[in-house]
Amino acid sequence: MSTIMQLPDGPGPIGIFDSGYGGLTIYSEIKKLMPEYDYLYLGDNARAPYGTRSFDVVYEFTRQAVEFLFRRGCHLVILACNTASAKALRNIQQLDLPIMDPSRRVLGIIRPTVESIGSVTKSRHVGVLATEGTIKSMSYPLEIKKLFPDIEVAGKACPMWASLVEADEHLTPGADYFVRRDVEALLARDPLIDTVILGCTHYPLLLERVRSFVPSGVNVLTQGEAVAHSLRDYLTRHTDIEALCTKGGETLFYTTEAADKFRQQASRFLGRPVRASRISLV
Ligand code: DGL
Repeated sequence: MSTIMQLPDGPGPIGIFDSGYGGLTIYSEIKKLMPEYDYLYLGDNARAPYGTRSFDVVYEFTRQAVEFLFRRGCHLVILACNTASAKALRNIQQLDLPIMDPSRRVLGIIRPTVESIGSVTKSRHVGVLATEGTIKSMSYPLEIKKLFPDIEVAGKACPMWASLVEADEHLTPGADYFVRRDVEALLARDPLIDTVILGCTHYPLLLERVRSFVPSGVNVLTQGEAVAHSLRDYLTRHTDIEALCTKGGETLFYTTEAADKFRQQASRFLGRPVRASRISLV
């Protein structure tokens, strides 16, 4: 297939992208399920958080990241960021892939998350906690209605949460104030909610805090496992793409901020420090 962009042809790692560290919560589940593949993780830490940025800016930043990962040999890129999945995925798939290389694939994480809720909620009332960008995009209610028209969805933007996690301030009493406030506001919107989706990849680090603020019996769901299983299914069904994913069990980490900072902070998400390289997307 002829490509307009000059991209490496041969097999390469699976690309995983997030605005910052949050995507590591998705990467760790993918790696646990499929340790045999090579991965290339990119965190745009210098420009995080994305959650309050406009549609155009999130799209532009995400497009740059995808292009970087393609140039490093990835044929498949996972947007391990709800904000990027909500605001940039469709444009990238429809406008950019045909120009960059129609044979490469970019997948988001909202659809696999939504697929996982159908059997969890009994009351058929679901709440979504996410960044302002994800909530405003209405991506969760739209996807949920497509798959499960009987489920009622309420959303609440949590503008402070990703920044608190990025800054390692998320387990402080100050952070508790914001977490409690936003959880209570969500439940007040619909007291029948029995399932809360943590719709931002930074939020698993707040899982225990969120659980402490919801009534017992309310499920709080993170995304990593659902995304990892969905990716495994995808690779099983798309053998052409799977054949282009190398299997050396190695991961390279790239960040747009200081490499040392990424190395230290990543251990909060992965339980171990990792070696990272700093790159520029502009
Ligand atoms: N972790 C990202 C998400 O899942 C974005 C957080 C942010 O950069 O605001 O939405």
